[in-house]
Amino acid sequence: MAESAATQPSPLRATRSPGLKGTLKPPGDKSISHRAFIMGLLAAGTTEITGLLEGDDVLHTGAAVRALGAKTQRIGEGHWQVTGARLGTLLQPQETLDFGNAGTGARLMMGVVGGHAIEARFDGDASLRKRPMRRILDPLVLMGADVRMEAPGGRCPLVLAGSAEPVPVTYRTPVASAQIKSAILLAGLNSPGDTTVIEDEASRDHTEKMIRHFGGEVTVVPEGTHGRRITVKGRHELRARPVIVPADPSSAAFPLVAALLVPGSDVTIVGVMMNPLRTGLLTTLMEMGADITLHNRREEGGEEVADLRVRASNLKGVDVPPERAPSMIDEYPILAIAAAFARGNTRMNGLKELRVKESDRLAAIAVGLGVNGVAHEIVADDLIVHGSGGEVEGGGTVETHLDHRIAMSFLVMGLASARPVTVDDDRMIATSFPTFKALMQMLGAEFQTP
Ligand code: S3P
Repeated sequence: MAESAATQPSPLRATRSPGLKGTLKPPGDKSISHRAFIMGLLAAGTTEITGLLEGDDVLHTGAAVRALGAKTQRIGEGHWQVTGARLGTLLQPQETLDFGNAGTGARLMMGVVGGHAIEARFDGDASLRKRPMRRILDPLVLMGADVRMEAPGGRCPLVLAGSAEPVPVTYRTPVASAQIKSAILLAGLNSPGDTTVIEDEASRDHTEKMIRHFGGEVTVVPEGTHGRRITVKGRHELRARPVIVPADPSSAAFPLVAALLVPGSDVTIVGVMMNPLRTGLLTTLMEMGADITLHNRREEGGEEVADLRVRASNLKGVDVPPERAPSMIDEYPILAIAAAFARGNTRMNGLKELRVKESDRLAAIAVGLGVNGVAHEIVADDLIVHGSGGEVEGGGTVETHLDHRIAMSFLVMGLASARPVTVDDDRMIATSFPTFKALMQMLGAEFQTP
């Protein structure tokens, strides 16, 4: 279990703050950071990573790649070297691979183990133990892996034995999920043939891009209206390449929405990754009338990045189409906060996947809105927030259920609501954005320990 699970909950309160001002750079992208460690493990040679997110989630993946035979060295802040164990020659881990709170780390690494003749036990904290793993295990079993043990419902702790000769498969993912896609592609890297994943809605494409960056062969063709068909060629040598990790748009979302909601704010967020499969929140906020301007668009580490200037705005409610969900899947909690302050209703359609994130986010958002006086409804898998168009009451204490994004979202609410908002536990913020509190305070955000 993660060390944090052993310590006491640490509540935090946010109070109405003066206009936020200044410039900040969010930490490195979590998705790319996990993948940088994993590709470093599979490559021949030493991979140099800069801008790595040193959050708890990614550090657990770092420990797992060491258990499978990679050597890692921290050179400086966010600067790491990973010397690979190489595809096909991973070590049998001697201990349980503990992923703490990290679904991405656990699921991607199941793909790696599933494609090798090794056996590993996967586990994590109380949140990770609730998350469904059958969606990953099913395709891996088709590829020849064997699930030796699993907790009821296909959950962690589980023991997975991979195959020395993974069967090349063509697999249509049942939900748009980059984690399912990535697990299959990573297993396919060690298969003697071509492995294809078909997704009806395109999910984030960092794994495909990174396999190519390391010299692997991946082809991507459109599938239907919004989907893709991705094929990876197995047993292709992967060579170490430098990885520059851009700032995480999912972390940038918190100071961004805070600046929109706190009157008088003017904040610049620098170097934010603009990968189109990650920018659904920006699109939605612009539709809501947000004053966000993009500057200095440039390329960094194979991704477009930009500086975002954000000024306090009067937002209006919008309808968010379900097909936008994959490009903003982690941003619904903070969008719900923006929607609470907007004029009119915001309807977020097709949020079924939110029920299986670090917490049941649909339920956690709804309860959090309720205790802070925000009217809302859940209709099937849609969330409708009845925006106040001005004052939000606040004053509630929000249960975060070991979910970093629930914690940060409701703290942002408290910076702009009439009465303070308290979250029951801020420890999980360290999984994705360890510097959240300090960076927000630099902009003028006011937090207290209750
Ligand atoms: C991630 C994919 C998403 C996202 C998660 C990170 C990734 O999950 O919610 O935080 O890095 O591949 P799903 O692919 O299950 O939607």
